[in-house]
Order: sequence, then structure tokens, then C-alpha cells
Amino acid sequence: MAEIPSDFLERYREVLGDELLQELVRFLFKPLRRALRVNTTRISPEEMKRRLEDKGYRLEPVPWAEEGFWVYGESEEKSSGKELYHMMGLYYIQDASSMVPPKVLNPQPGEMVLDMAAAPGGKATHIAALMKGEGVLVTNEPLLYRAKVLVGNMERMGVRNSAMTLLRGNSFGWRFPNFFDRILLDAPCSAEGSTRKEEGFFKNLWNLSYIRRAHNVQKALIVSAIHALKPGGVLVYSTCTMTPEENEAILAHALSAFGSKVEVLEVRLPGLKTMEGIVTFEGRTFPEEVKKVARIWPFLNDTEAFTLFMLTKREETFPAAVRRGRQPEGRLLGKMIDSGMRRKLLEFLKPYGDFEFLKKERLVFSGDHIWYQPRKFLPLFERATLNRAGVKAIRVYNNGTFRPTHAFLLAFSEYFTGFKRELDEEEAFRFAGGENLPDSREYPREFVPLFFQGYPLGWGKKNEEILLNKLPTPLVLR
Ligand SMILES: C[S@@+](CC[C@H](N)C(=O)[O-])C[C@H]1O[C@@H](n2cnc3c(N)ncnc32)[C@H](O)[C@@H]1O
Repeated sequence: MAEIPSDFLERYREVLGDELLQELVRFLFKPLRRALRVNTTRISPEEMKRRLEDKGYRLEPVPWAEEGFWVYGESEEKSSGKELYHMMGLYYIQDASSMVPPKVLNPQPGEMVLDMAAAPGGKATHIAALMKGEGVLVTNEPLLYRAKVLVGNMERMGVRNSAMTLLRGNSFGWRFPNFFDRILLDAPCSAEGSTRKEEGFFKNLWNLSYIRRAHNVQKALIVSAIHALKPGGVLVYSTCTMTPEENEAILAHALSAFGSKVEVLEVRLPGLKTMEGIVTFEGRTFPEEVKKVARIWPFLNDTEAFTLFMLTKREETFPAAVRRGRQPEGRLLGKMIDSGMRRKLLEFLKPYGDFEFLKKERLVFSGDHIWYQPRKFLPLFERATLNRAGVKAIRVYNNGTFRPTHAFLLAFSEYFTGFKRELDEEEAFRFAGGENLPDSREYPREFVPLFFQGYPLGWGKKNEEILLNKLPTPLVLR
């Protein structure tokens, strides 16, 4: 117990009492059970379970998410994070508590959804799967290096209906007032939930001034998120921390800013144990409504700590900037490709399968790539410059030749009904490790889609008797 700061212990003694504080301490350093979430746009949870159990893992269902499992049977040589199936985007490794906010948010196919603090994308890829590729998911992340990881994960999981902005979350309220059907604000926070995986957490990362700073950022973000929510829409606010400053106090701030324009909703997920929010803390009393904050203490479900609340908006709201007449601006990403280019592209894709649907889709040229960018993204461009929108699908070289991207194969794998090569397990492992493969077959195109057990793996490029490995470097298994 020596390494836990006394401030930390005193704060939670006030909230939990002696007995539960002992429980909390017992769980703070207990090794975390590894969990994964199946990418249900590709494979059913049962099928994934069967395939991983065939490899010697044991999977136990997460009660509150039918797509989630705890994984047992990992070892130094064998890690579910290094399996081919992981690299192929068939599942995502994340704590079982992280599956809660998207399940509670319950996004529907066809909706306009915002993930305001999205990187590295654990919850964004979950939301995308729940939307089944229909509608628009805007993911936002202001830090470029984190945004790159987000892109990698969205591509790996084959998401095709997302756009990405690199904004501070504060600007969504005035850029997009009353706009989104659902919003997840998984706020930057003091991350007390990570004690179970960050060994030096208390020594290196925990301090009261950071909690105060996070509180101030979160207040601005929740106000912005509420303005960006449509009346009748649903907003889920979550943190992986336990402090009342970053949870109940943020809800209290929202209630004082919006009064009866917002309504706090109960968070209930069958199978998940929660405790109610904290009304008094360090001499401060919050409104009774904060009892609807759902606290996932680590000892309740043997997960990381997590805290969340959910609300809806009863009427339109406009931030001061909009009332003062501030107008958002955006820049359209790319230019529509002309009919000649579209014809050429469809001709190129013909041997790969049935891509006729692209005849009617909005395809744009940006940088040196053709992007799949459906019309439903257009209203976003009037209000913000998007750094990405849709799928970066085909590289076009100066000499007019095409090269399909990894993202295109993963996002549209079900359309690849034409020529492809199915690899056996040994070949698939070699390919995933970055090797080229011998190949003396003839193909109608030099770029060959490679599949393993019916799921897309990556592209090979035929060069004489060899298939050159075109797997994006960050995906190569080492
Ligand atoms: C808790 S993490 C999000 C985790 C993510 N939702 C997931 O499930 O993978 C919070 C993120 O918010 C980002 N962030 C920091 N300040 C922000 C701001 N002002 N607006 C929006 N996001 C911010 C951080 O860079 C960080 O990536």
C-alpha cells in the first residue's frame, strides 16, 4: 500500500468507507484480465470464439456485450494481440469496461454520430460496427500522432463510413449546433482506471493538479457536446477515472449550464454491475441528479475503473458564438472524378468482383488517391475541414495506372467475389510477417487480393514468379 498516495486513499475513504476502500485497493494492482471485442461487421462472436479456441485460447463471454470475451491461455509465445486474426481486423483488444460506453450509446445504422475524443479508436471502431457501415461516424482527435493510430485502427477494422477531424472538441458546439443524433465524449482524464496496467501510475502520473486541469477541459467539452447534440439525441460522457471532479462535477456543470434543456438518463446494461454517483464530496454537494452517474468500480466487475453518464436534450441550444453570428467554414476534401476516370476505374476493378455499386457513389480525387466519399458526408464539409472522409481507396500514378489500398480491401471485402488467392496457414503467417511469397500463377491484374480462411489479409503484387508483400508496415507481425 506504501506506493498509493495518502491523498488518493483519503479521497476514496470519504466516498466508499473503510471496507470498500480495502476492496478498491485490492483491485488497484490486480493484473487485468485480457479482453477482446469481435468485429461483428466481419465475423460472428460464436465463429470467432470457435476459431480462437481451436488455437488453444479459452474465451469467456463478457456479460454486458455479446461481442466481448475475456481471453485466457495467453503465454509469452502466444498472444491474442499478435494473432493473424487480430492483424486482419477480426477483433480489437480492449478492456471489457471500454465496451460499455458504445453499448450504452446504442448508435443505429444510418445515424449521424460523433466520437469527440476518439483516438486510438477502441470505442470508435465499436460504434462503427454497431452502425453496420451505414450513416456517418465523425471521429475527432486533436493530437496528430494519436490520430494516425486512430486511422490505422479504423482501416484495420474495415470501417467505411467515418470521417476524421483534428479539432479541439470545444469547437463542435458552434460548428455543429443541434446536429448529431448521438455523441460519445470519452473525455481526456486522469486515467485512474489504468493502475492495473500502468505499473508506475501513482509515481509518475497521478496528481491533484492534473485532476483539476482535466476538470476544466472536460467542462468546456461537455458544454460543446451538448450544443452539438440534436434535440432528442443521446450523449454519453465517459472517463476511465474515478474522481468526482471529472464525473459528477462535470454533470453538475452541464445541469447548471443547460438546466431543464437536458435530461439525465439512467445507464443500465444487463449483466453490468454499477454503483450510483456521489452526491457529496470534500464539502461540496452536487444535485441529486448525479446519482444517475454510473460508477464501474474495478471491484464490481473485475475490470478497469470506468465512470459514465448519459443525457438527452429537450430543445435546441445555441452557444454564444453562434448567437453572435460566428459562421463555421470548411473545405471540401478532393474533387469529383470525371466520368472517364470512373469508367477506367470500374474496368480496372472488374476482375476483382462486382463493384458496379461504385457507378452511383460519390468518388473524389484527393492527393494522389481516389476516395470513396458518399454524399452523406457533404453537410460536414460546410462546417469543418475534414482531414479524412470515407475510404482512401485507390492510388493513381502519374502514368494513369491504379493501385488498390489495404483500406479498400478491408472496407469492401465482401465485394471481392472475383479472382483472389486464398493462402494456407503457413503462407498467411509468412505474409503477415512481411515475406514475399513464391507464385507461378497467372492473374488478370498485377495486384492480387490475398485471403485467409475467407477473410481479407492484404495485397500481393505479382512480379515474375513472386508475390511482393504489400502489407502496410505497421501491420507486419514481428
Ligand atoms: C480517453 S482518450 C480517448 C480514448 C478513445 N475514445 C478510445 O476508446 O480509444 C481521450 C482522447 O482525447 C484527446 N483529447 C485531448 N484534448 C482534447 C480536446 N480538447 N478535444 C478533444 N479531444 C481531446 C486525447 O488526445 C485522447 O486521445
